[in-house]
Amino acid sequence: MITRRDAAAPRWTAVVLGWATLSCLLVPAVSVKHENFKTCDQSGFCKRNRQFADDATASSSWVSPYALDAASITFKDGQLGATVLKTLNEGEEKVKLPLTVTFLDSGVARVTLDEEKRQKGDIQLRHDSQARKERYNEAGDWALVGGLKVSEGAALSEQAEQGYTKVFYGEGGKHQAVIRHQPFGIEFQRDGETQVKFNERGLLNLEHWRPKVEKPVEEKKEGEEEKKEGEEEKKEEQPQGEDESTWWEETFGGNTDSKPRGPEAVALDISFPGYEHVFGIPEHATSLSLKTTRGGEGNYNDPYRLYNADVFEYEMDSPMTLYGAIPFMQAHRKGSTVGVFWLNAAETWIDVTKQKTSANPLSLGVKGHTDTHTHWISESGLLDVFVFLGPTPQDLARQYGELTGYTAMPQSFAIAYHQCRWNYVTDEDVKDVDRKFDKHKIPYDVIWLDIEYTNEKKYFTWDPLTFVRPDTMHQHLDKRERKLVAIIDPHIKNTDNYPVIDELKKKDLAVKNKDGNQYEGWCWPGSSMWVDCFNPAAITWWKGLFKYDSFKGTAPNTFIWNDMNEPSVFNGPETTMPKDNLHFGNWEHRDVHNVNGLTFHNATYQALLERKKGEIRRPFALTRAFYSGSQRVGAMWTGDNLAEWSHLQASIPMVLNQGISGFPFAGADVGGFFGNPSKELLTRWYQAGIYYPFFRGHAHIDTRRREPYIPGSPYTELITQALRLRYSLLPAWYTAFHEAHTTGAPIIRPNFYVHPEDEAGFAIDDQLYIGSTGLLAKPVTSEGADSVSVYIADSQPYYDYFDYTVYKGAGPHTVPAPLEKIPLLMQGGHIIPRRDRPRRSSGLMRYDPFTLVVALDNEGSASGTLYLDDGETFNYQQGAFIHRRFNFDGKRNILTSSNLDNASRTAKLDAYLKTMDKVRIEKVIIIGAPKAWKGKDSVIVMEEGAKESARRKSVAAEFHEGKGKAANWLVVRDPKVGISRGWKIDFA
Ligand code: NOJ
Repeated sequence: MITRRDAAAPRWTAVVLGWATLSCLLVPAVSVKHENFKTCDQSGFCKRNRQFADDATASSSWVSPYALDAASITFKDGQLGATVLKTLNEGEEKVKLPLTVTFLDSGVARVTLDEEKRQKGDIQLRHDSQARKERYNEAGDWALVGGLKVSEGAALSEQAEQGYTKVFYGEGGKHQAVIRHQPFGIEFQRDGETQVKFNERGLLNLEHWRPKVEKPVEEKKEGEEEKKEGEEEKKEEQPQGEDESTWWEETFGGNTDSKPRGPEAVALDISFPGYEHVFGIPEHATSLSLKTTRGGEGNYNDPYRLYNADVFEYEMDSPMTLYGAIPFMQAHRKGSTVGVFWLNAAETWIDVTKQKTSANPLSLGVKGHTDTHTHWISESGLLDVFVFLGPTPQDLARQYGELTGYTAMPQSFAIAYHQCRWNYVTDEDVKDVDRKFDKHKIPYDVIWLDIEYTNEKKYFTWDPLTFVRPDTMHQHLDKRERKLVAIIDPHIKNTDNYPVIDELKKKDLAVKNKDGNQYEGWCWPGSSMWVDCFNPAAITWWKGLFKYDSFKGTAPNTFIWNDMNEPSVFNGPETTMPKDNLHFGNWEHRDVHNVNGLTFHNATYQALLERKKGEIRRPFALTRAFYSGSQRVGAMWTGDNLAEWSHLQASIPMVLNQGISGFPFAGADVGGFFGNPSKELLTRWYQAGIYYPFFRGHAHIDTRRREPYIPGSPYTELITQALRLRYSLLPAWYTAFHEAHTTGAPIIRPNFYVHPEDEAGFAIDDQLYIGSTGLLAKPVTSEGADSVSVYIADSQPYYDYFDYTVYKGAGPHTVPAPLEKIPLLMQGGHIIPRRDRPRRSSGLMRYDPFTLVVALDNEGSASGTLYLDDGETFNYQQGAFIHRRFNFDGKRNILTSSNLDNASRTAKLDAYLKTMDKVRIEKVIIIGAPKAWKGKDSVIVMEEGAKESARRKSVAAEFHEGKGKAANWLVVRDPKVGISRGWKIDFA
């Protein structure tokens, strides 16, 4: 078995024969190595702050030592400034913490707390460190791209009570920040009701700078005896006080962190009164509705951790950290969704606790019966928090998206199926797999190459023996409009005769160690250095490496996979970089760790934008590590999962959570990365994987081949069916991506997002809606199932996608799900666009006709949208797209297509429309057709702009009576109306 320690072992081709036989025998022993990763107790600042919380909670006389100096308050242009004073030594000393509260035009408030001494650089670093002295204040440069316009309407309240400052903000001044001076705290209110509270429990803790006081080494007094072996140290009674043991140095797993700035954590309690559910803060293998973290039956004992890490063989149902971090949390109750975004890139832990409150008529404005309390703890950096007051989940998605950016509009191939494994072994192997897909008539768009394609793990090279003709391999794929994704990792092999490492060193673009020398660690290639993409010069250099004439053998259909960018360092602490490493600008790695993956992914995105002068295309780059903002530059996947049912199950809440956390282009390895799935599991995984926005099959190098044509009948046919379902619904998926790109809405959506008033469904995380299509899927994630229970939240009819069986009534419904059936329902009231002609790749569907599926609601009406563009360039930004709204008016029985964007005609639009001129609707299916239509055999079609003779034409229709519980349906065949045109079909 290949392990991390075998990195840079002899040429893998020599070993592969051995694996082929071995892999049949080996079932990997899988379980995470807990000892490699810290618990809160082993992470000094987390332990200190939890202790701080315990002491504060235990003491009835606890008073938070932070107070706002009222005399320091200023308010100008939507921003409040003040100094918060932290009292030390019973009042003898006060630490000055500059506070700003900024009220944004979007109704979002931003609270920033810094430390004056560090801000001014008025501190001494230890160990002659060259690190920056300030608290890290550049996370926003990476995460934020907009939404920062300050509100002109925000105003100080004139009726403030003594000891409080109040600011009205948000649309019509309906939001209010109530700032309590002593102890310092803020309540955020909407329409007079408190939604979010800062420092209610007094856990605000900003570890101020202090010099290390060297304790004198006690000299042995005369006559004192040597301690005998085995004899206990005579311990003196320690005075009660702060636990200093991890202030100055910290050792874990044999690595010592030198901490040149001493203790510098920031922590704050944030409460959501009346909110029982909190969601978000990916990435964890846990439920959508977050569990509590202070012990108790079924709950966690450790806080949720955000510290991007390569967690080998990660475990299910755990608050352990994974590969990415999005410190955005939302709280939801009936009638309200609010949230916070903790903008900090250092290691962060979040405790969640819940408290039942008995209904108290006097607790003004606080509704609901449960409060959720959270406690956020970061190792360094600013306290910088955004507060969102909703009030709907859609508002939150939009507001968070305005700040951190909406998901990139992908090329259309990127949302089709990707075939990956570690590894396709030669260029001939790639072509062979490609031919086999065709032979079995299985659609796919992209084939992937893992690290073995390189010449001895030197990125930007090809193994000369196995990938002899990458150019002809690309041409072969391009014939069917297929693409190739090649992996490029951030570690650069430290070896001779490799121009990439020579340039990296010469240009001084690598991450440095604490002494300021280029840092060297161990990864796949063996000894490596890491490109420091915080450095603008490194991005410029990186861009050059991807030009076709630099990365020879690549072509316009080559795209990139960024892996190991947490960064993964096999011999580093917790499999990553030492925290005292230095990045561009002399920021310590500690400060920037969680944003590191984004900087690398971003550099790759920039590189892919223009690989040849004038050839500007939408990039596709997959990342494993991510932070808030990563959605702007590509897709993510959930890393190294296992071929086990539990991992299939966990993938649904994980991908849903990515969606509501602003990074919806997400998926899990279909089939499971480690281990060999049974044929049933593989089939079910494909049937579920078609609902991942990012849909890729992938497998570890030790596993058996499992391309969809391998398992044989009936599995291959069933997997093909599932893939075809994804392909036929690509127009609906593309429309959902466009919505995500323009509004921040998730692509797959949990029940609470679609039905925010349905309390019984808030925690449901095993079923999903696709965009705004009304398609409700319930993937089968357990072995041997022949039915599933689908939860319906409203009183609309839900039609089985395949046989139109009607399910109606709020609550659970049993839906048949034998292996050959994918449980998929259509909520009445929607019109779903699809393309039914099976093709080998999505590119070959570009000019295919459409089918419109009209699922009628209780009123006999339905509506839906379709977004289309060239799927490749940025011309859509100059109006070159088709955006239609379809509406079936149940009163008049008329189906119409109208333009959704009345954008002005541009040359780009005209050119695009010309290419789409002949693309038509070939079928309309009305599901839930009224009985009165029985016998109807024609409808009247009217198309705008058609020739006089064709302006009103009669088109054949067929009415079908549903059997048993199935709805009636009517099919209109070939109305020949154009997809880009306005038209009407009269069913009356
Ligand atoms: C780790 C990634 O998570 C996995 O997907 C990949 O196959 C291996 N690295 C090898 O590159």
